[in-house]
Amino acid sequence: MKGSSEINCGPIGVFDSGYGGLTILRELRRQLPQYDYLYLGDNARAPYGTRSFDIVYEFTLQAVRTLFSRGCQLVILACNTASAKALRTIQQRDLPLIDPTRRVLGVIRPTAEAIGKISANGHVGVLGTQGTVNSRSYDMEIGKLYPDFTVNSESAPMWVPLVENNEADGPGADYFVDKYVGKLLASDPDMDTIILACTHYPLLYPKIRSRVPENMTVLRQGEIVAESLDDYLRRHPEMERRCTRGGSCEYLTTENPDKFTDLARLFLDTDVNVSHIDLNS
Ligand code: DGL
Repeated sequence: MKGSSEINCGPIGVFDSGYGGLTILRELRRQLPQYDYLYLGDNARAPYGTRSFDIVYEFTLQAVRTLFSRGCQLVILACNTASAKALRTIQQRDLPLIDPTRRVLGVIRPTAEAIGKISANGHVGVLGTQGTVNSRSYDMEIGKLYPDFTVNSESAPMWVPLVENNEADGPGADYFVDKYVGKLLASDPDMDTIILACTHYPLLYPKIRSRVPENMTVLRQGEIVAESLDDYLRRHPEMERRCTRGGSCEYLTTENPDKFTDLARLFLDTDVNVSHIDLNS
């Protein structure tokens, strides 16, 4: 990639289709505040959840290349849909050609690893976008690690628009939380853990929590992804040294920066320093 070889350290890149990855970023910054971060939200082309495999891959690769060109040595795909549909191809096919020393990590594998310690009886439910659920990525990753586990999934296509339109606390959200959680619970009466396998869903956590049995675990991914990154950096000091330290965080959006700033408050409770970027150029 032009210009990439002379840059060998930079912020940790965090990519999402839109705002949802901010729930992951917040936890990364809480647990690993020493690093610099560069967040990229492809808000102009979100949601990814209903898009085809090829398009999600193409958009995600553009985002990864952009974060690399801004100096990121390590990029986290903080988006389940991108992790499900693009991560493997990028890791196996693109990275060796772009720069074999850089890394792209996703959110599905760390969640699947953690679930073994969280579910007591191995009956797991997954709530995600259509793209994530149809890819069966969670079934496969959990199945590889814990072949005895039972995994049932339900897509919740209305949840992302509800969150993006600031309706997560409204009565419309009650209806759609009942609908999708009800369907998931009905699929396995022994379910003891539900994974919120979409970065937007933590904003609906109070409503989801109130509709499931008290002893059921409802898992948000931020903490798990941050712990997994911490572990990764400890095991890979050569990459850790390439992540700059300073505690800064900058934001890029493919949409209007003012709109991003407004909506980002829902996810972060703070103002952000955001610039516009065009991923097609
Ligand atoms: N951030 C995406 C995910 O975690 C969901 C939003 C979208 O559909 O673009 O799957």
